[in-house]
Amino acid sequence: ALPRDLVGRKVVVSAGGTREPLDPVRFLGNRSSGKQGYALARVAAQRGAEVTLVAGNTADLADPAGARVLRVGSARELRDAMHAESAGADVVVMAAAVADFRPVALSDSKIKKSGQEPAPIKLTTNPDILVELVRARPAGQVVVGFAAETGDATGDVLHHGRAKLGRKGCDLLVVNAVGDGKAFEVEDNAGWLLAADGSETPIPHGSKTQLAVAVWNAILPLLDSCARL
Ligand code: C5P
Repeated sequence: ALPRDLVGRKVVVSAGGTREPLDPVRFLGNRSSGKQGYALARVAAQRGAEVTLVAGNTADLADPAGARVLRVGSARELRDAMHAESAGADVVVMAAAVADFRPVALSDSKIKKSGQEPAPIKLTTNPDILVELVRARPAGQVVVGFAAETGDATGDVLHHGRAKLGRKGCDLLVVNAVGDGKAFEVEDNAGWLLAADGSETPIPHGSKTQLAVAVWNAILPLLDSCARL
């Protein structure tokens, strides 16, 4: 059984992929299953936290017991939900796979075949929600990001992760090595936990639930000790 060490804590977790609409029936999306974010929400609820899960597109996953689940589609919907929900939270975890780009134009009607060359899809950059949440956070709130990094060597992956932690400004960054059947659409995960204080903790290969337990274990000592309990 898990310890009830998150009783009295309010946490917000994002999960799954965003869908960036092109027209009423089409979107640009990604392969995120949402499983890691759901595991984080489930474990937090089991440890006693008050959990809000903001879910984009996911595989067919059961709602985590005890969590409040909000559904979003696009990155901009996810952003609005995260800003609204994170205001009073002790911990915010961005496990969602946010699309970096979205189509500039959203057609009101289904884009038709014209018999000619299709028009190119123009893209624009989505806001970086994690960076915005770090900037907007109230004192004492712990903000956690995820990073899927490719690299030939562990050193490359960690180097990219460390740079990303600095750019994003979050307290913890969970770095997953991707490629070779790792991280996306699979049951298992492994990686490192990089902290703003420079510490670097490997997370052994295991289930997404085990990774979630390791992440909450790392968050606990960062929580303001005089809050709520
Ligand atoms: O820059 P990159 O996409 O690798 O960063 C990953 C982290 O940043 C994840 O925690 C993801 O949820 C978050 N992110 C975000 N908004 C974006 C892109 C990524 O919050 N537009």
